[in-house]
Amino acid sequence: MSLDGKVAIVTGSGRGLGLAYAQELARQGASVVVNDVDAATAAEAVASIEGTGGKAVAVVAPVGSTETAKQLVRTAVDTYGRLDILVTNAGVLRDTVLWKMSDDDFDTVIGVHLRGTFTTVREAAIHLREQGEGGRIITIGSPTGQRGTFGQTNYAAAKAGIVGMVRTWAQELKKAGITANVVIPVAATAMTATVPYFAAAVEADAAGEPMPAFFRHDLGFGTSDDVAGLVAYLASDAAAGVTGQAIGVGGDRLQLWSHPEPVVTAYRDGGWTYDALEDEFPTLVGESLQSVGERFPALPEELQRPRP
Ligand SMILES: NC(=O)c1ccc[n+]([C@@H]2O[C@H](COP(=O)([O-])OP(=O)(O)OC[C@H]3O[C@@H](n4cnc5c(N)ncnc54)[C@H](O)[C@@H]3O)[C@@H](O)[C@H]2O)c1
Repeated sequence: MSLDGKVAIVTGSGRGLGLAYAQELARQGASVVVNDVDAATAAEAVASIEGTGGKAVAVVAPVGSTETAKQLVRTAVDTYGRLDILVTNAGVLRDTVLWKMSDDDFDTVIGVHLRGTFTTVREAAIHLREQGEGGRIITIGSPTGQRGTFGQTNYAAAKAGIVGMVRTWAQELKKAGITANVVIPVAATAMTATVPYFAAAVEADAAGEPMPAFFRHDLGFGTSDDVAGLVAYLASDAAAGVTGQAIGVGGDRLQLWSHPEPVVTAYRDGGWTYDALEDEFPTLVGESLQSVGERFPALPEELQRPRP
């Protein structure tokens, strides 16, 4: 198995995508530190891994603080003797438009996703550098972090911030042989269950039926298991040369995202005054303005569901 002898931490792995990552890493031979805020789901996750012959231990603690980050790394080392892989998956949503978003909505989402990714990766990096055998940091982004989504100021900030940190970590951790990447998943989970556009797919998944091809292929929307293979691949020795990347996966689709590059570069001796911009901006830049938001194809009629 590709991850024999390796030790992984997966945050927020009691259910949903995190659970699928933990199970797949264990299937590939890794011992796994499962983490969640909910003790019962964490215990079930551990039991599901042990039930198929894998090794797992639970840490029930909220990701965000340095204290939890230390507890996660300490548990990996105390229980299994080392750490090789960290997957920062824990997440929550507090969606609402900007003008209705409270400080608490903002801080909660930033605290779990952005701060939680920072504190756990920092702790893992300290240990992996000391251990001296390289390692794998796999963070979790979102299409929202790449393109922005109406009603998700907090989540967009957190997920875009995670990609920004990974671009930095890929440089900082390179010498130590530690890769850092972002996986951008799309899957039917509790988090997407309430999005009306995905209703027919979530319905099929809940009934144990195959998801319609429109979702799997055109939208790249599938099950949590569809995402887990990429996480295990990035964790493996086979992906030693892959770092600093944002890779999307869902259903039947795999995508490598570009990082931002200037699309127009222009020079003017003496700099760009207001008058110069008024003259030249519309032709120089105005014709290359960038789009925002995800582009969703129209739902075929048979897959439309009434809004709840
Ligand atoms: N489902 C999707 O299509 C999708 C798309 C893009 C990104 N994501 C990201 O994938 C990750 C997992 O999402 P999901 O869809 O499986 O959601 P989910 O709600 O099903 O699972 C999230 C898990 O994280 C746990 N959690 C929440 N706060 C925590 C904390 N502070 N500490 C530890 N655990 C905590 C929850 O209890 C839950 O078990 C999230 O980072 C999410 O933003 C999901």
